[in-house]
Amino acid sequence: MHESTRGESPAPEDSGTNTSSNPSLESVLNARLSRRSILKGSFGFASTAFFGPGLTACASRGDALQTNTAPGAARSLKLNFDAVAKSLADAVSVPAGHTAAVLYRLGDPIATGVAQYRNDGTESGASFAQRAGDHHDGMHFFGLGSDGKHSTSASDRGLLVMNHESITPSYLHAGGQTIAGHARTVADEVVKEMNAHGISVIEVVRNGGSFSYKTDSPFNRRITAFTEMALSGPAAKTPMMITAYSRDGSKTRGTVNNCANGHTPWGTYLACEENWAGYFRRIAARDDANRSARERTAFARYGVAGNGNHLWATATAASADDTSFSRWNAMKLGSSTDGSDDFRNAANTYGWIVEIDPFHAASTPRKRTAMGRFAHENAAFLPPVAGRPLVCYMGDDSRGEYLYKYVSSAAWDPADANKGLAGGDKYLDDGRLYVARFHADGTGSWVELGFGRNGLTSSNTTYAFADQADVLINTRLAADAVGATKLDRPEWVAVNPANGEAYLTLTNNSHRVLANPSPGRPAVDSASPRFYNDPKGAAATAQKGNPNGHIIRWKDASAEATAFRWDVFLFGARSTADAARVNLSKLTADNDFSSPDGLRFSNHTGLLWIQTDDSACTDVTNCMMLAAVPGKLGDGGKRTINNVDGATTGAVDTYVGAAPGDTRLRRFLVGPKECEITGVAETPDGKALFVNIQHPGEDTRPTLGNPASFGSHWPDGGDARPRSATIVITRNDGGTVGGTLA
Ligand code: FEO
Ligand code: CA
Ligand code: CA
Ligand code: CA
Repeated sequence: MHESTRGESPAPEDSGTNTSSNPSLESVLNARLSRRSILKGSFGFASTAFFGPGLTACASRGDALQTNTAPGAARSLKLNFDAVAKSLADAVSVPAGHTAAVLYRLGDPIATGVAQYRNDGTESGASFAQRAGDHHDGMHFFGLGSDGKHSTSASDRGLLVMNHESITPSYLHAGGQTIAGHARTVADEVVKEMNAHGISVIEVVRNGGSFSYKTDSPFNRRITAFTEMALSGPAAKTPMMITAYSRDGSKTRGTVNNCANGHTPWGTYLACEENWAGYFRRIAARDDANRSARERTAFARYGVAGNGNHLWATATAASADDTSFSRWNAMKLGSSTDGSDDFRNAANTYGWIVEIDPFHAASTPRKRTAMGRFAHENAAFLPPVAGRPLVCYMGDDSRGEYLYKYVSSAAWDPADANKGLAGGDKYLDDGRLYVARFHADGTGSWVELGFGRNGLTSSNTTYAFADQADVLINTRLAADAVGATKLDRPEWVAVNPANGEAYLTLTNNSHRVLANPSPGRPAVDSASPRFYNDPKGAAATAQKGNPNGHIIRWKDASAEATAFRWDVFLFGARSTADAARVNLSKLTADNDFSSPDGLRFSNHTGLLWIQTDDSACTDVTNCMMLAAVPGKLGDGGKRTINNVDGATTGAVDTYVGAAPGDTRLRRFLVGPKECEITGVAETPDGKALFVNIQHPGEDTRPTLGNPASFGSHWPDGGDARPRSATIVITRNDGGTVGGTLA
């Protein structure tokens, strides 16, 4: 989500629940504060030409490509397109010589006999169990061999699996949401909203160079907020997981707010539960009195307090024993001592990584508790090495949250490459979880979150841990206790397949401060070194802190290593921003960006795709996707950033990657109005790129009878309501998309 509130849903990452006082070592050591006079930076923004509407290719700069001689360039990789200009058009812009085609939109049917979507909100809630969900997000293409099994080389046929993170309810119903007396009075609307969340599995096929999806494939599947899920790993079947739905704590229903994703070496998909906390109704003023101090601490740390997104818990089910809606009520209502007669523990069954086997449509997804519970953005594995443990990195997207690493106990066996959910049972249910500390000298350390280690015992002062299940269910509290480094909203991690270096988008943090840190407002430090303004337009109030975000990278010495080195690959900025303090990566009009979020390496070319979810630079451009030649950790050098905030200054030492210039970083795509670009997948041959356009038109609250009031009409055009959708991008010459290996 954007930093701003989106639609009718709150954006929980805005509120930030990390008020822990664990010391940020770097901030103590590095923010050398002094008082001095105000310095003004030079701000402003060069306007650029905008392209017209439609999905056709847009020409841009016609310079000949230069030979890439940058240090550390990955494998003679060259970007093979001309940069796309920033745009405010209600259209998708791609480079000249490329075609972008719409593949799969909100409401599109995934089974035979399901009517085409009318896009007027009149479909039933139940029909959405066989339609595309809303807010397309993280995505992966699983090649499908002729034997019906996963093939990492098949490009003409595959299963496209994607998350549907959230909804834009204004457009989902004929007249918007029906709410009376602070309650949902039309149950079918809630059914539709719950079904519009979750995951899609669709079979896609290539014919004559273009892709379509099959409505009659037996692989097609929707996983929704109704789908039964098994709880797996150390926290499963423990007392904190007991609900009226599962008295032994072995299962739960559904998944929501599946943001980004991962895919495993054994051919399964990982859907990550991000801003799940807001879906639960827990009126703290009423419930807190019935809860222990430990429970209150845990609820506060995860933000489980409020009316519940979309008031789902208030809808009335068809019968008294149907708890489809009431299970969103996480208050203690029953008289049992163990929670088996209500849903007081239901929130503990959310916040996990969900493993899905897309090749078996009847399989039950499994929530992998060994990987920790937080606002999971995505999950990215290091390339597996036979005989060695598997390593998976994960970000917790909220202000001031942390970066995590999971290391499997089992060593990788290449014979497991098509193992399905049994692979997850082997590699994801038993392992060690670590959290990152970034140090001021360019090194870092991973601290294990294991019960009995590093102070994670019943003697911990903030929260007395009972056992390892408790540590995992309250991962954030454990990470606080070991002094993890607060980061600027950790979003996607991507691992460079060429060298195992990992990249993490730190999208932005409007609460980063230069001086006088306080709970929820950490001071600048080496890993988050900038404090600056981003003026939106001439008259608008400047956003302070780190409004444009950055991309940090690190490399572990080995899979099990607890030490790493890091630097900052790129700093988001306007190209016109102060080069000494803000535009540290020397971005130009062809590659400047803000609020990086989606991040993925091409396995084919090794280039890095960067997607934005920006609300800072929306005065000059819609959200975008860029392609980067990744470079190498340490290809830049140490820099001192002389931050300024009014009369206060603060110098911070950091490590800045080599400036990419126009040859190593180019804008590839700009989306339609008020969208986010998120989720990218490629065919193994690198010739087709799937990209998700999330929630076009979401910022503008529409009057449904007046199409002129809609924030976007993409992709259908005319007076249509906007729809999230997957597009497929190909080169007209049939070549690899984004880059070419010399
Ligand atoms: Fe759903 Fe952190 O983005
Ligand atoms: Ca979003
Ligand atoms: Ca985001
Ligand atoms: Ca995201």
